[in-house]
Amino acid sequence: MWRSAERTTRLTAEFALDFGTGSTRIADAGGTLLVDEPTVVAVDKDTGRVVAFGSEVLALGARAAGRVAVRYPVRNGQLVDLDLVEEVLGEALRRAGASRLSHPRVLVCTHIGATRVQNRALDRAVRRAGARDVLFIAHPTACAIGAGIAIDEPTGSMVVDVGAGTTDVGVFALGGIVVSSSCARGGDDLDEAVRSYLVRQRDVLVSRETAQACRRALATVAPRAAPAEFEITGRDAHSGRPTSAILTSVELKPIIEPLVAPMFDAAVRGITEAPPELVNDLIGAGLLLAGGGGLLDGFDRRLARVTGVPVYVAAEAGRCAVLGAARCLELPHGLSYAVSVARIH
Ligand SMILES: Nc1ncnc2c1ncn2[C@@H]1O[C@H](COP(=O)(O)OP(=O)(O)OP(=O)(O)O)[C@@H](O)[C@H]1O
Ligand SMILES: [Mg+2]
Repeated sequence: MWRSAERTTRLTAEFALDFGTGSTRIADAGGTLLVDEPTVVAVDKDTGRVVAFGSEVLALGARAAGRVAVRYPVRNGQLVDLDLVEEVLGEALRRAGASRLSHPRVLVCTHIGATRVQNRALDRAVRRAGARDVLFIAHPTACAIGAGIAIDEPTGSMVVDVGAGTTDVGVFALGGIVVSSSCARGGDDLDEAVRSYLVRQRDVLVSRETAQACRRALATVAPRAAPAEFEITGRDAHSGRPTSAILTSVELKPIIEPLVAPMFDAAVRGITEAPPELVNDLIGAGLLLAGGGGLLDGFDRRLARVTGVPVYVAAEAGRCAVLGAARCLELPHGLSYAVSVARIH
């Protein structure tokens, strides 16, 4: 089921890659987004072969459930199954037009909390997928450049990137990260918590998509949000019959809170560990909130309250990192923000 029709071979073989928990994104040096797909694959249960990637998997729907297993190769920013990761990255880069013969350079966004082992595994997977040269850029740095922040200035700047499975924080001055912090929590953790709550408390089994729709409709971290409710449909956990239930935002609050608290704590650590002069700069300039997970209702306002710094939200929150990495490929000194895997940590 892999498709090859959308392939185009490019002469400038340089790509930016963000292999996220939620989405796999690839852009070229001109900033054109070539791939933006959910990081999910369908694997044939008999042969073990990957038969579909990204939105193709969602299109297969429940009918294919007997024949294929749905797998998520990245969890909370960590590579789960290296063979699968290699196969997915190979396909994603092919779709971006990166032929093995062109031996592309790939600039990979890496999370603050990624271990040396994880980065090496990612480096190897991207090379096996055909890359000649693999460089890494920290997520917050890529986001800052994607949002047009002049991180080379002596004036301090700050990024909080809340993704599907990780939260990365970076405070910058003179082109470098002065303070960083992170936590392995993002928007998808909230969906998972909603799912397990429904099974435990309501005996209702729902799909990831239903849990996500419910969470987006109800979850809020705003201090005094108006109560809301959402009707979910799923299956009875005992009989397997179709059933429905009403979930309220009040019920959801204690489920959400323990998951978002470490995200805010990571941001506060960025502030408390930064030199006071830089914090003064931040109070003037504000901090950038990037990543799709930061679009949770009220997140920006609460982030401003707990950090004491004004918050502005990235225009393309989820794509900010890959577009920033793509920009680094184009900028005259852009690769000075990048390092090879041997130089991380
Ligand atoms: N409008 C929205 N409201 C609330 N949540 C949203 C919204 N849009 C996207 N999200 C959530 O954002 C998350 C995806 O964000 P993003 O694309 O930045 O993640 P990622 O880069 O794939 O993951 P990570 O960086 O953690 O590995 C998902 O959990 C998704 O449900
Ligand atoms: Mg991300």
